Amino acid sequence: MPSRKRTSVAASVSVGPLAEPDLDRADEIFRVAFGTFLGVPEPETFFGTADYVRTRWAADPHAAFAATVEGEVVGSNFAADWGSVGYFGPLTVRPDLWDQGIGRHLMEPIMACFDTWENRHLGLFTFSHSPKHLELYRRYGFWPRFLTAIMKKQVAVSAAVPGRVLYGELTAAERPEALTLSRALTESVYDGLSMDREIMATQAQGLGETILLEGSDSDLEGLAVCHCGAGSEAGEDVCFVKFGAVRPGPDAADRFERLLTACEQLATEKGLGATGRRSEPGPPGCLPAHGRPRFPYLAARRDHAQAKRAWIQPLGRLRNRRLALSDHHALPTGCHRPIDHTLSAPSPR
Ligand SMILES: CC(C)(COP(=O)(O)OP(=O)(O)OC[C@H]1O[C@@H](n2cnc3c(N)ncnc32)[C@H](O)[C@@H]1OP(=O)(O)O)[C@@H](O)C(=O)NCCC(=O)NCCS
Repeated sequence: MPSRKRTSVAASVSVGPLAEPDLDRADEIFRVAFGTFLGVPEPETFFGTADYVRTRWAADPHAAFAATVEGEVVGSNFAADWGSVGYFGPLTVRPDLWDQGIGRHLMEPIMACFDTWENRHLGLFTFSHSPKHLELYRRYGFWPRFLTAIMKKQVAVSAAVPGRVLYGELTAAERPEALTLSRALTESVYDGLSMDREIMATQAQGLGETILLEGSDSDLEGLAVCHCGAGSEAGEDVCFVKFGAVRPGPDAADRFERLLTACEQLATEKGLGATGRRSEPGPPGCLPAHGRPRFPYLAARRDHAQAKRAWIQPLGRLRNRRLALSDHHALPTGCHRPIDHTLSAPSPR
């Protein structure tokens, strides 16, 4: 790329909050960017009826950013605050402007959000086969960790799961207590992890449902934030488990089975029987009992506050717990080999 061109475009880029009137344009760029990167025939239709840009903007407009050149939106990026955990994406730039520094500009406000929120652990999902992506994020301290398989399966009619409660069916008076219990569960998975914002955004925008699995005592055994159908991150005829977690311990596998069955039950109830999409968290290389690996990802994460001092230890704690950070951009490889044994120990910067 000629350095003069790069300099001239980079100099005219400005980054600021993504404004509501610019959502359509940001959404178009989001689709065409992924579609172009993946080489699909009609990139502008990529992701079909799934919506990321509007839904993530609505979840937190203060954490949604646009890059503009001469007043025109040319890319966007979104941060999400999950308590002690922060993650971001989708980051997209108009394809004719790639490799001119705009993606990096769009990383700056995201990193500023994480500083403000004081998240301790940061992550994203990206394309494991792309040196460009790995290098782009490495510059912000993100290192490859392990591949996360995004699974898809046909949903069969399943038996009702005892103890399943839907957040959307609770009264306004009951919801704060449900959030407290959810937080207790996610904190048992990773200290400070909170799904409050995801649960409330899903509810407020009518994107799907949050499943709460009651245990024999007053605690929750499982939690799944599900997006359902067109206009959500799932897309038409799909129930997408955006986040799923169960209480750790000896019976965690059984609890996880129950949670997945409860997700299938939800998909059936919502008339999403044709396809279901689930992401299943777990140790590197641990594939779920059901389903077929469909969209593998490389998860790159870093410990934000202690990146230099304690890199491996907090990641090690996290990787053996039931934490799902999920996204489902298609990646045309069948690889789901954990690669963290080669890349999990960066040298101090
Ligand atoms: C990924 C994306 C957002 C990057 O935006 P961009 O504006 O092209 O990125 P930038 O130019 O700011 O930065 C790319 C960096 O990668 C580097 N890079 C590019 N190709 C590379 C390669 N083959 N190997 C190593 N580094 C490479 C560039 O040199 C640049 O770093 P520099 O600024 O220090 O020179 C854009 O390509 C896009 O929209 N892709 C499709 C959607 C997507 O994949 N989004 C991300 C999902 S996680």
